[in-house]
Amino acid sequence: MARGRFITFEGGEGAGKSTQLRRLAERLTQAGVEVVTTREPGGSPGAESIRALLVNGDADRWSGLSEALLMFAARRDHIERTIAPALDRGAWVVCDRFADSTRAYQGAGGGVDPALISALESHVLSVRPDLTLILDLPADAGLARAGARGGGETRFESKGLGFHERLRQAFLDIAAAEPERCVVIDGRDEIAAVGEAVWDDVRTRLLDHG
Ligand SMILES: Nc1ncnc2c1ncn2[C@@H]1O[C@H](COP(=O)(O)OP(=O)(O)O)[C@@H](O)[C@H]1O
Ligand SMILES: [Mg+2]
Repeated sequence: MARGRFITFEGGEGAGKSTQLRRLAERLTQAGVEVVTTREPGGSPGAESIRALLVNGDADRWSGLSEALLMFAARRDHIERTIAPALDRGAWVVCDRFADSTRAYQGAGGGVDPALISALESHVLSVRPDLTLILDLPADAGLARAGARGGGETRFESKGLGFHERLRQAFLDIAAAEPERCVVIDGRDEIAAVGEAVWDDVRTRLLDHG
């Protein structure tokens, strides 16, 4: 059995990641692919416990560095227990956020040295995404959507517009630096149109080319 493919969704709050992840998983399933959907922070029992520490409470509850270390602790458990076993048995894994979110939120947003984040990546990431779909839209539009959605876990949403504008630029910089892995998709379009753009990229980059 061939190893599965690893797809990640990235972008700011309210960009449409969770919405598009569900749609993509349905289309892949219809195409006959076994899909495992998961999310970060979280995705394994231990990592979900760490998630609760990260997404609740005051905006300044953690320093950027403490937050980055918690994210990587969660990420390692998620890889060991969920992502790598699924890929090994041939399933495709579609993940709502992954390491690029740490580069953006704790690096560009939280002031953690990018060299330290790269060093953590090189030790922790035994798997890297085959394709990263970055949903892009203005920070204020995303925050408005996320606010209307409700549902708690608002610690990162509460960090202020300037923070979220830095994140947007950070994701665009990642995409520019790694065009082989990343595509930027306009998240301002209607849900169905964004879904078509997502499917186009997955089809041409992963399904048509083995
Ligand atoms: N393209 C879109 N246009 C309008 N509303 C959208 C679009 N994509 C998602 N939404 C809505 O915006 C809110 C945030 O979407 P969600 O997928 O939860 O974003 P994220 O996971 O990136 O934070 C949800 O209420 C969702 O239904
Ligand atoms: Mg989401």
